[in-house]
Amino acid sequence: MKTINDIRKDFPILEEKIYNKPLVYLDNAATSQKPLKVIDAMSNYYLHLNANVHRGVHLLSQKATDEFEKTRKNVQNFIGAKHSQEIIFTRGTTESINLVASTFCQEFVKEGDEIIVSEMEHHSNIVPWQLAQNKYKFEIRVLPFKDRGELDMETFKSLLNSKTKLVALTHVSNALGVVNPIKEVIELAHKKDIPVLIDGAQGVPHFKINVEELDCDFYAFSAHKLYGPMGIGVLYGKKKYLEAMPPYHGGGEMIKEVSFEGTTFNELPFKFEAGTPSVADVLGFNAAIEYINEIGFDFIEKHEEFLMQYTSEKLLSLDDIKIYGTTPHKAGAISFNLKDVHPFDVGTLLDQMGIAIRTGHHCAQTVMKHYNIVGTARVSFGVYTSKEDIDIFIEGLKRAKTMLL
Ligand SMILES: Cc1ncc(COP(=O)(O)O)c(C=O)c1O
Repeated sequence: MKTINDIRKDFPILEEKIYNKPLVYLDNAATSQKPLKVIDAMSNYYLHLNANVHRGVHLLSQKATDEFEKTRKNVQNFIGAKHSQEIIFTRGTTESINLVASTFCQEFVKEGDEIIVSEMEHHSNIVPWQLAQNKYKFEIRVLPFKDRGELDMETFKSLLNSKTKLVALTHVSNALGVVNPIKEVIELAHKKDIPVLIDGAQGVPHFKINVEELDCDFYAFSAHKLYGPMGIGVLYGKKKYLEAMPPYHGGGEMIKEVSFEGTTFNELPFKFEAGTPSVADVLGFNAAIEYINEIGFDFIEKHEEFLMQYTSEKLLSLDDIKIYGTTPHKAGAISFNLKDVHPFDVGTLLDQMGIAIRTGHHCAQTVMKHYNIVGTARVSFGVYTSKEDIDIFIEGLKRAKTMLL
């Protein structure tokens, strides 16, 4: 079994120096670093396999297509989907949610209907619904959360009604690190035949997902937060919905027959994959999945649980630190503020020490509004994050504190 030191060697960027100091990378919720295996898979495609997929009889195109479709199967197994046609490649979580907001609403939502979205969503799970709302005139009902960061489940139950057409909820809050009780949410919604979309951008990197067991109707995520490339992600959707939903984009690949009298559309998943896909990214994604599978979620979960606990304890042992999101079930990220210091100042000082953290509203302005703050500082972990990284961060924060308070 690999140790953290072995794992760190797989990620060449961790050797980088920032202002002449070793990089301490604690911004994994924004994007994770890539192991050499992923970088190699992508360059291998351009060096040895580059051809368009699904359209050539020549060998190179067939090989590229095989690798591309193998990835779809691997993604299917990775998230426990029943059918590979339920895996749609998109550019990432944002595009996956936009796809559903646009096409699900077109088919299933009419004026006066309601869609429930929580108060703790990333903007990617708010704005697409607002854009669709302009067109389809439904109402967005907001599921609030309590100060500790837990969803108000009593309000949730009261929001579900015959006009509710969908619930769209994040698995894990990127701003608070709080893990939502999605299984319970899905069960409650399904009792009223209401489908549920889960934004899994911050879920898949941290624990094993099984969409069949969860019984969610849609699950969206991005490869780049999962040690894979940017610009590629997945929409998982139950076949019955994907089949009923109209195409999102028009173009090559997504059609069966085109004529000026009318066009018929391709079967799943191609109906939703118009145009030339980002093949190198898909193959890089495949390598990322293989990499995660090699390490295993038992290891990842245990390691990250340690990091969450260790960091929280160390942070709370300093005076003047307030942590946002204090429910027992958290994953991947810790948000905090140093007294009333602007988080940007904390982040800037840490950066000069080679420590990369995220500061600001984290694309979750409704969360910041809940706490009446401009933003937070956020540390977030990956499989290569070491105890030493946390110790350096805490020492850096102590120094920043003496400068700022
Ligand atoms: C919870 C959550 N949803 C959606 C997104 C959007 O992901 P992407 O920018 O990869 O589409 C993010 C990215 O930070 C996120 O954390």
